[in-house]
Amino acid sequence: MSIMTELANRDRVFNFLTPTDSPVDVRHGPILYLEDVTVSFDGFRAINDLNLTIDDGELRCIIGPNGAGKTTMMDIITGKTAPDTGSVWFGSRHNLLTMSEPEIASLGIGRKFQKPSVFEALTVFENLELAMATDKRVFPTLTATMKPEYRDRIGEVLETIGLKDLMHRPAGILSHGQKQWLEIGMLLMQRPRLLLVDEPVAGMTEQEMERTAELLTSLAGKQSVVVVEHDMGFVRSIARKVTVLHQGSVLAEGTMDQVSNDPEVIKVYLGEEA
Ligand SMILES: Nc1ncnc2c1ncn2[C@@H]1O[C@H](COP(=O)(O)OP(=O)(O)O)[C@@H](O)[C@H]1O
Ligand SMILES: [Mg+2]
Repeated sequence: MSIMTELANRDRVFNFLTPTDSPVDVRHGPILYLEDVTVSFDGFRAINDLNLTIDDGELRCIIGPNGAGKTTMMDIITGKTAPDTGSVWFGSRHNLLTMSEPEIASLGIGRKFQKPSVFEALTVFENLELAMATDKRVFPTLTATMKPEYRDRIGEVLETIGLKDLMHRPAGILSHGQKQWLEIGMLLMQRPRLLLVDEPVAGMTEQEMERTAELLTSLAGKQSVVVVEHDMGFVRSIARKVTVLHQGSVLAEGTMDQVSNDPEVIKVYLGEEA
């Protein structure tokens, strides 16, 4: 695939992430707030009266069996799917249901899809550079020279994702796990306030999973992180507060020990794996 084609695809994935001047207001409450959200597909309620709040800086894990509505929930938060009823707020100022997908992204909500989509032909450094290139304040054009502070930002992100030693290697040589970290790094270039991460450790080795746990844990506090994940061992290793989704609503919420000892949860989800 030519670089230009890849670039066009990339733009679609990143939805023209351009930070805006209207910061999220979390002085009086959570960073993300979903109330009584319902969405049906052909009469089937994929999300059913869902209530969820995420605090600023929180790392939240969302678990639940296949078809529980986890990905649909992320589609609603990011503006990809419009719910039939309910409210979705980003801080106390931004009603996400009145906003388009690119507008929501530009507020600082970054989404990491399951499949990594880095530019294999470009170096790790160039991939991070490009992730900023959609921000017109940084690059008036793609070929413009980068300001030193953005070079520093790339250095910081390389440190965070642990790919400093590989910064001049083409992304194509990276392992599956390293590509996932690079993609998280590309989201971090935009300094998101909320990161949504869908099944980050699918296909990873044990060692890569451990490193991903460290990475996601290190991001919390600086930004809010919502991780949807199937792998229970992984969730246990990073979990603070866990939400169990089932048939489109919250079945249980609490620490990993609380939810994994909940009889309802054992019945619908953990029981599956036992
Ligand atoms: N665009 C859609 N059209 C029809 N059904 C959908 C659509 N998106 C999701 N669904 C259905 O909604 C349910 C929840 O799906 P999903 O959110 O992908 O669950 P999860 O991510 O928890 O596995 C599933 O039964 C799925 O088939
Ligand atoms: Mg899913």
